[in-house]
Amino acid sequence: MTTTAQTAAHDIRDPGLAAEGRRRTEWAERSMPVLRQLRERFARERPLAGRRVSACLHVTTETANLAVTLKGGGADVALCGSNPLSTQDDVAAHLVKDHGIKVFAIKGEDHPTYYEHIRAALAHRPDVTMDDGADLVGALHMIALNRLDDLARPVRKWVETLAVADRKALVGGVLGSTEETTTGVIRLKAMARDGVLQFPVVAVNDSDTKHLFDNRYGTGQSTLDGILRATNLLIAGSTVVVAGYGWCGRGFAMRARGAGANVLVTEIDPLKALEAQMDGYRVATMAEAARVGDVFVTLTGNVDVIRVEHMRAMKDGAVLANSGHFNVEIALEGLKQVAQGPTRVREFVDEWRLDGKRIFVLADGRLINLAAAEGHPASVMDMSFANQALAAEFVVQQAKSLTKDVHRIPRELDAEIARLKLQAMGVTIDRLTPEQQKYLTSWEQGT
Ligand SMILES: NC(=O)c1ccc[n+]([C@@H]2O[C@H](COP(=O)([O-])OP(=O)(O)OC[C@H]3O[C@@H](n4cnc5c(N)ncnc54)[C@H](O)[C@@H]3O)[C@@H](O)[C@H]2O)c1
Repeated sequence: MTTTAQTAAHDIRDPGLAAEGRRRTEWAERSMPVLRQLRERFARERPLAGRRVSACLHVTTETANLAVTLKGGGADVALCGSNPLSTQDDVAAHLVKDHGIKVFAIKGEDHPTYYEHIRAALAHRPDVTMDDGADLVGALHMIALNRLDDLARPVRKWVETLAVADRKALVGGVLGSTEETTTGVIRLKAMARDGVLQFPVVAVNDSDTKHLFDNRYGTGQSTLDGILRATNLLIAGSTVVVAGYGWCGRGFAMRARGAGANVLVTEIDPLKALEAQMDGYRVATMAEAARVGDVFVTLTGNVDVIRVEHMRAMKDGAVLANSGHFNVEIALEGLKQVAQGPTRVREFVDEWRLDGKRIFVLADGRLINLAAAEGHPASVMDMSFANQALAAEFVVQQAKSLTKDVHRIPRELDAEIARLKLQAMGVTIDRLTPEQQKYLTSWEQGT
């Protein structure tokens, strides 16, 4: 990776960590061949020249490779974290020091600082925003709808200093946005349904080369990794309860079973529940699962999936973790009202006393794979972030023709990412013969 020493506006833990961040980012880059190819093309063609991009993403080594790709494509990039616990401070330092990227993110930042960093990303006056959980787009929409009371204080205070015309220009200046995750896409589709979406959005999560791999294999492996790093528990022989059998839940259930757990799945969708049952897992309600589980992991994108009534039914020593986007899947506020604690027993492990039993909550109920481990492996983020880079290019190129709706990148681009990934893995596949092509597109031939 080429680097240029620059300084930039930023708010990070310690610029002195840059060398370590560079080493780790280069390690990740080795596993990101698709993004690397895009980076080379972006450097030649400069599709983002003169564009300001504000990204609110987990500040990891993989994100660093995306940010450098965008910058190489001509973008002026500002980056803030999409979760207070997921920032890798050495990576933030590397991006600032070696690439002049404006990073606003510190691991463990408090709520006001998190939103001060969102403010800084908005103050970059983006042409394109990139979200993981719709925090930037959410704030821009509260500004557009003049719902300033719904903004976090640091953002609201800043917006109040802007003239109305300036607020309009801020929102109106956004050509479009890209969204990384299921939870963000759900919100954006709700905005489109309500007719309030102010600009086109590309749902990166809807690409097959994103959710089939990142959500399933990435979350599957890294969630187990996060739980192991936080607790060092033996998974073999334990009962692991997986709440939600979507892409993330499927991936994690598969890896927990692989590590020797008895896996129990909870669902609210009969189809997914049936799939889990036929995949060989036990399916039950959370009320039933609560009595037998040793480790509980939520991966639903929903709220209050594990409630106090469930916690009261749990065994002494039950471990609770979340790998869904927001820290609302485990009802921690409810727990705080009825339990004693917390006592920090290990980094990322809090003990609560409830009815004479101990309940252990990992990483404050925040994304366990990013808080206690390093997030997804680079090889899987290679495809997710190739999608992000192509989505940014797509937004800039198609800005005039895209409707204010939630779009996905064209299927040909999605398929191209899969083709490049296979090529990088040294895997070749068959091609349709002319006869097969004809057969698959005609209706005349039968037995
Ligand atoms: N940890 C990570 O790095 C990571 C990566 C990708 C996505 N995510 C997040 O994980 C969450 C799930 O994403 P996904 O792609 O698997 O979504 P998905 O829509 O494919 O799956 C979610 C599943 O949860 C089920 N569900 C909803 N409410 C439930 C409840 N009360 N009890 C049991 N099941 C319930 C749904 O029926 C669905 O099957 C989202 O918040 C997403 O943003 C996290």
